[in-house]
Amino acid sequence: MVQTPKPRLGIAMIGYAFMGRAHSHAWRTAPRFFDLPLEPELTVVAGRSPERVTAAAHTLGWAAAETDWRRVIERDDVDLVDICTPGDSHAEIAEAALQAGKHVLVEKPLANSVHEAEAMTAAAREAASRGVRSMVGFTYRRVPALQLAQQLIAEGRIGTVRQVRAQYLQDWLADPDAPLTWRLDKSKAGSGALGDIGAHIVDLTCFLTGQRFAGVSGMLQTFVHERPVAETADGLRASAGSQRGPVTVDDAAFVTGRLSSGAPVILEASRFAWGRKNAMRIEVTGSIGALAFDFEDMNVLELFDAEEPARTAGFRRVLVTEPDHPFLEAWWPPGHGLGYEHGFTHQAVDLIRAVANGENPEPSFAQGLHVQRVLDAVERSSDSGNRWTEVPSNTAV
Ligand SMILES: NC(=O)c1ccc[n+]([C@@H]2O[C@H](COP(=O)([O-])OP(=O)(O)OC[C@H]3O[C@@H](n4cnc5c(N)ncnc54)[C@H](O)[C@@H]3O)[C@@H](O)[C@H]2O)c1
Repeated sequence: MVQTPKPRLGIAMIGYAFMGRAHSHAWRTAPRFFDLPLEPELTVVAGRSPERVTAAAHTLGWAAAETDWRRVIERDDVDLVDICTPGDSHAEIAEAALQAGKHVLVEKPLANSVHEAEAMTAAAREAASRGVRSMVGFTYRRVPALQLAQQLIAEGRIGTVRQVRAQYLQDWLADPDAPLTWRLDKSKAGSGALGDIGAHIVDLTCFLTGQRFAGVSGMLQTFVHERPVAETADGLRASAGSQRGPVTVDDAAFVTGRLSSGAPVILEASRFAWGRKNAMRIEVTGSIGALAFDFEDMNVLELFDAEEPARTAGFRRVLVTEPDHPFLEAWWPPGHGLGYEHGFTHQAVDLIRAVANGENPEPSFAQGLHVQRVLDAVERSSDSGNRWTEVPSNTAV
């Protein structure tokens, strides 16, 4: 029997390195494993160098390549713009795309400043009134074990949330000769470990608890102030020449905070934590139990039930690979495991469904703005000797 083709969703992706590769894989894979109402089409990828973007289009499966993102936004066959560039271009590209009536997926953090994030959130609200959708790429929300954690907390399985402790630890900058790339330049990245990886644990804390940050006290630290300038970079792989340049961002961020309920939170983000490669860990302690997750063991959620007799109680490893776990119905038999790329595929699935169903997907730009406000409050607190700093609510937007 011949199947009626599904309506297409033309995608334009800006930037094609680390995230560009992950997102291309997601757009290609989502309709192969999930039954979706629209067929995503990898219509055009944009970059700056004609040779490199043409090669990327070929490797990653895009039908066309462009060297000016403005031209892809003008195309009638583009319905959704996927922004995979550093933070300094998020606001300009996202606002232009929304204005042109294109749905937008923008990588995290939403922007490089609260000011930009506010303008983007206002643009997204206005666009939503025209049926145009927008979403921020806080991808870890779509790791099945973390989706399960969110469901269990919402169901009351650990009782009232009392404390959150989270860490995002990597070690790729611990070598003082690691090259100076855009991630170490405040004008391009906005901040260092704080916005790059700390933003994820801020967002996850909000996602898991359903709460916002009320205030923070922050301490930022730069360990290495000068590095050899990167001459070539492809994603996180870079090589340096002999020229040296200044590091203008933090290498590590240490934060204590309170949620809207008053629950205390402790966060640490570091790109100097030897031996920790992508240790994004979060533990939520409630009145009758606790949940713990570590991305280096991403198919497992640990659950402690404080109502079990002490004689046998202990953290239990839940292998989150059963068909009735979030997103798992589409994947492999129990125990066969998912990887880093699956979070991006799930993100694409949820966004495609939201566009087709006329719903606003999450994380929204307003949620991205809240994260930006937390990052900004941490920086202000750190600049003022770790003073307690309130996080303004989003109602001002
Ligand atoms: N969701 C996640 O877990 C996750 C992980 C890594 C990075 N990120 C975010 O993704 C974004 C991109 O990071 P990355 O690691 O892919 O960086 P990258 O350096 O690997 O890639 C950046 C790409 O953007 C292109 N680019 C830069 N400026 C441009 C411009 N003005 N116009 C067109 N193209 C431009 C570069 O040529 C490159 O292709 C950042 O916001 C980063 O914080 C998110």
